[in-house]
Amino acid sequence: MKWTDKQQKVIDTRDRNILVSAAAGSGKTAVLVERIIKMITDEENPTDVNQLLVVTFTRAAASEMKERIREALEKMEEDNPNYLNVQKQLSLIHNANISTIDSFCARVVKDNFDKIDLDPNFRIADENEIEMLQSDIVEEMLEEYYLAADDEFMELAEKYSTGKTSDSIGELILRMYKFASGQIEPEKWIKEAISVYDVSSKEEMEQSKWMQGYLELQKNRLEGILSQLNIALTISESEDGPKCAKLLRLLLTSYRR
Ligand SMILES: Nc1ncnc2c1ncn2[C@@H]1O[C@H](COP(=O)(O)OP(=O)(O)OP(=O)(O)O)[C@@H](O)[C@H]1O
Ligand SMILES: [Mg+2]
Repeated sequence: MKWTDKQQKVIDTRDRNILVSAAAGSGKTAVLVERIIKMITDEENPTDVNQLLVVTFTRAAASEMKERIREALEKMEEDNPNYLNVQKQLSLIHNANISTIDSFCARVVKDNFDKIDLDPNFRIADENEIEMLQSDIVEEMLEEYYLAADDEFMELAEKYSTGKTSDSIGELILRMYKFASGQIEPEKWIKEAISVYDVSSKEEMEQSKWMQGYLELQKNRLEGILSQLNIALTISESEDGPKCAKLLRLLLTSYRR
């Protein structure tokens, strides 16, 4: 394969961090595979494939990666059956750390469970189990809070329970938790979110960033309603239009206010 100059540069660069960002299907994986092949078959300074750590986000990407490295090695072996190092790398590849980040972390933990005081029989929960555990925990926690009946909590419960479902605060807590978990620094984000409410007057609240955004949003919505009402008024004032101009004018003045 004839690599482009940029691809070749990525393949050959060593001893520094490289960030490769390129369009879908433009050859990122191919270049990464080639880098790995070059490293493990280097004549002077070869690295064994099981000494590398290659992590991906999905299982599919990890197995694609492993497969493509294996194919490249097999092709080299075909072209040169006496290439001993290639045979060695092919025998090592099933033990190589080419996996998802999650499974790599699980492996590190499993290999070191004795150092972190963890039951070696631990396993990774699936998404459904995690959701059930989270709901259970929130439920238990809310029960405790309801029993303690702390004033601040009771006020919160009263304001945020919609009445239809008793667990709506629980849902709200979990939703916020999930949203916060998606932020770069979840705890920092939560603290910032709280600080927004930490105002002493109505004026101060109106000056806050989120309130400005909220007011802007409401202003746009109102303008939308006003323009719809104006259109409706024009229609109702036309010759055979519905006779509701009076009502519409009333609505218009109240919305303008
Ligand atoms: N310089 C090149 N010349 C010819 N073919 C190339 C070149 N670079 C990559 N390809 C081919 O393009 C195809 C897509 O490459 P690859 O799968 O590596 O892309 P990718 O950027 O990883 O894609 P994705 O974003 O889907 O993961 C492969 O068949 C690869 O062999
Ligand atoms: Mg790819």
